[in-house]
Amino acid sequence: MNLSWKRYLLWFAQEHVDFRFAEITSIIQLLNIPIKWVEEPTPEDPYWIVQLPSEEAAHLIASRSVSLRCCLELWGRAKDIPTLHESLKKYPFDEMSKYFQSDISFKIHVETFCKHFTQKEKVQKIETFSYLPLKGTVQLIDPDVCLHYIEYYGLNPNDIPEKPLDVFFGRWICDSARYLISKISLKTRKFIGNTSMDAQLSLIMANQACCKPGDICLDPFVGSGSLLVAAAQFGAYVIGTDIDYMMLHARTRPSRITQKKREINEGILLNMKQYHLEHLYLDVLVADFSLPLWRSEFQIDSIITDPPYGIRESTEKIGIEKDNYELTEEHLQNHVPSKVDYGLSQIYHDLLSFSAEHLKLNGRLVCWFPVYRDDYSPEILPENSCLQLIANSEQILNKYTSRRLLTYEKVKEFDKNHLDVMKEIPDFRQKYFAHGDETRKERKAKRAELREIGRLESLKRSNNQSDNR
Ligand SMILES: C[S@@+](CC[C@H](N)C(=O)[O-])C[C@H]1O[C@@H](n2cnc3c(N)ncnc32)[C@H](O)[C@@H]1O
Repeated sequence: MNLSWKRYLLWFAQEHVDFRFAEITSIIQLLNIPIKWVEEPTPEDPYWIVQLPSEEAAHLIASRSVSLRCCLELWGRAKDIPTLHESLKKYPFDEMSKYFQSDISFKIHVETFCKHFTQKEKVQKIETFSYLPLKGTVQLIDPDVCLHYIEYYGLNPNDIPEKPLDVFFGRWICDSARYLISKISLKTRKFIGNTSMDAQLSLIMANQACCKPGDICLDPFVGSGSLLVAAAQFGAYVIGTDIDYMMLHARTRPSRITQKKREINEGILLNMKQYHLEHLYLDVLVADFSLPLWRSEFQIDSIITDPPYGIRESTEKIGIEKDNYELTEEHLQNHVPSKVDYGLSQIYHDLLSFSAEHLKLNGRLVCWFPVYRDDYSPEILPENSCLQLIANSEQILNKYTSRRLLTYEKVKEFDKNHLDVMKEIPDFRQKYFAHGDETRKERKAKRAELREIGRLESLKRSNNQSDNR
């Protein structure tokens, strides 16, 4: 890499803001890109100003990130418009002038954040840059050089200041990998389930897991395989397990309101084929995660997963509540094992213990963890002595609940003679259903009710959409 440090503006999408830092720091660690902060980033503003060693470094970061929108080589930056023009005039002319040649077409793009301007007003803003000695022709579609002028009016649409809070001018370098969000969108995916993870969050997870070509990535609660699609999109070989035979074989009721029955080959492999990723699909297996399945030598690069919380899907494992139950010979052949509750403390204890044993050193576990917001403190998070928590981002679901995306890195070799004890974590599910003494049957009925409400809301939404068309 040819090192020539310059200032760059990383311009972010204002969506899943709390995940930005964890995503970008994972990408720069994965790609081994040094980065210097020009300004300490604030958690909520949609821009970072950084120094990077080369333009290629900016391209590499953008090629993976879905939190980022685009990257500019920053020529001018100020807190008000007159100072921006002064700062732009001070930018080394030699650096800019190579883009001002007569054979280089250009365009100046104006973006205003949190305030609307008419096209005429935007043209007036462009004219304020007339001192730039641009000699080429203006070309609005696919120009050789695109210069961006951004006015930032803060984040509060109910209190928009008269003048911008921040202004930026620079040369567009590249867009990010956000095109992947529509490429693998659930709207057009062939096989989805009720709890399929949306494309953007799946891609963020695969980035935080540092998935890369040649890796093996596992989802032990794979469901409809959304996370496998994202990991494979970044080149990892993927494998999954789930206790639900009907889900893995796509025999469950279709989740789309418009779909009456499942397609013949519907399933995770069909999704992989849809995105031309089938060469990275190892397999999926019907298996109960609470029971050992893998040989201890089986080592993987990353685990990305969304364990069941018991709200829209059951949290069960194979077992029986009766004492000393013995299966008779005659029932053995057609026996369908019964299930018992799989508590959250046990699920997360198993998940972290499994990761400690089967991840390679420095491999990552990226998993969701449900919380009651009032109960939250970092002390309640699952722990394991071989794993270090390196990122913890919150997605708020409603006033009371949220889920946190936890990223752990394996920092110590697993020792089977030194097993961690299970940590009791607050039972999200019991609190969600409000009554701790509810039976499994009652909870099952409540879940069915919740799913039905979901279906009706979805039907209502699709009716409204067709009315609006
Ligand atoms: C939240 S869903 C995962 C959804 C998945 N990320 C997707 O995009 O479709 C949790 C999954 O865990 C599975 N599950 C529940 N208990 C399990 C167990 N004991 N062993 C393995 N899988 C289990 C459920 O069948 C369900 O598919």
